[in-house]
Amino acid sequence: MNELKEYLEQYPEAKILDIGTGKGDFINLIDYLYHDYSEIIGVDIIDYLLEMDKDSFKGNPKIKFINEDILNPTFPKNSFDIISLSSTFHHLTDIEETLKHMTTLLKPGGIIIISELISDNLDKKQVSHELLHHFAAKIVREIGMIHSQTCDKKGILKAVKKYAPIPVVDYWDMTIKDLYLDVEMSTLYQIIDQLLENVKDSEQYKVFKKEADEIKLYLKENGFQLANKLCIVLKKNKE
Ligand SMILES: C[S@@+](CC[C@H](N)C(=O)[O-])C[C@H]1O[C@@H](n2cnc3c(N)ncnc32)[C@H](O)[C@@H]1O
Repeated sequence: MNELKEYLEQYPEAKILDIGTGKGDFINLIDYLYHDYSEIIGVDIIDYLLEMDKDSFKGNPKIKFINEDILNPTFPKNSFDIISLSSTFHHLTDIEETLKHMTTLLKPGGIIIISELISDNLDKKQVSHELLHHFAAKIVREIGMIHSQTCDKKGILKAVKKYAPIPVVDYWDMTIKDLYLDVEMSTLYQIIDQLLENVKDSEQYKVFKKEADEIKLYLKENGFQLANKLCIVLKKNKE
């Protein structure tokens, strides 16, 4: 994660926008690596505030959350030094428009950081993360929302380079081990059961239930570790 820290530190007093922020996991990572930001705003089309742990980010007036679709942004152009998009690329309905809006909101000389789960070179424990992620993606699609499977490194880079209006200047594999300690197996089972609950009335329920049992067995036999992510940096020219 040193590479990410080095990029963040190039922008003292940075104004940061985290798109598809969910419950703020990437904001947490930024805050862990670097404190010299002036503001971090997390935006998501889903309002997660009610679901969030009341203590998360409490007392930090520099972090705030807004319920907004990045395809209809309300921020003025050239507003942010750094714009991040973490684990969200495969949720996007329109990659090209999203990257266009992100570039417009970025200050000249600013950077976009895209971090995305990758399916290359996973060990057995990391395959558990991939299986869980793909199961969640199937369930979400069954209830009518966008959630693709993860892609390999080459595929993500190709898509970013094809649609981004600004150049990719760097990329690397990122392992996130320090921040997230071992997750309890019971917590993972609960996540699987909650996912199943969403499709309890589906005609496909039996198929989902069989897959859920197979994933639980795999997790029990192999353990769990977060999969690696690919981190991509794009930079807007100084005008
Ligand atoms: C898997 S979550 C990523 C959460 C977090 N960034 C992380 O790193 O774990 C993807 C999020 O992207 C959000 N999202 C998808 N399209 C969006 C859009 N057009 N504008 C804002 N948020 C969006 C979804 O609602 C979802 O919460």
